[in-house]
Amino acid sequence: MSKMIDFTPGPANKRQFRTALGQFATGVTVVTTHSASGPLGITANSFSSISLDPPLVLWAPARSASRFQPFVEAEHFAIHVMSETQGDICRAFVHEGNAFDMLDWRPGIDGTPLIDNCLARFVCARHAVHDGGDHAIVVGRVLSAAVGDGTPLIFTSGRFGALKG
Ligand SMILES: Cc1cc2nc3c(=O)[nH]c(=O)nc-3n(C[C@H](O)[C@H](O)[C@H](O)COP(=O)(O)O)c2cc1C
Repeated sequence: MSKMIDFTPGPANKRQFRTALGQFATGVTVVTTHSASGPLGITANSFSSISLDPPLVLWAPARSASRFQPFVEAEHFAIHVMSETQGDICRAFVHEGNAFDMLDWRPGIDGTPLIDNCLARFVCARHAVHDGGDHAIVVGRVLSAAVGDGTPLIFTSGRFGALKG
């Protein structure tokens, strides 16, 4: 492995900081809610499990996102862990919040869109919203969970990919 480069995050090296953060490979989720303007979704990799008892998870919407407000105000939302066959759905929800025509979904609690055929789904009630700098940290209490099977979609260094078998 090549030598590591040390730096202090700041305005001069934003890109380098993003590159460093992007070295952390994650899964990919689509978070959905029912907003005043209808079903809404967003692709997010900030998802993390927090607590088993009580069952708590989190994700972090960006304050700069046009979809920020409805997601921090949502009483209920669902987090879908996406499989490697669902890359197109994830790409669509990066760009638009209402890309539901391309997939099978049904309304759950409060109309929350539930996407089928995912690796896992967590239907949540908003538990807390914390400050997270230019993001908010939304903590959800998991009301119901579902588990499917398949291989995960991966995001690392700004690219979608899959685990090598
Ligand atoms: C793999 C991946 C993960 C993302 N994760 C997040 C996330 O955790 N939080 C977030 O607000 N936006 C995330 N985004 C960006 C959003 O999907 C969306 O494009 C962005 O927030 C702009 O939203 P807007 O169109 O409502 O302004 C991610 C994008 C990609 C490709």
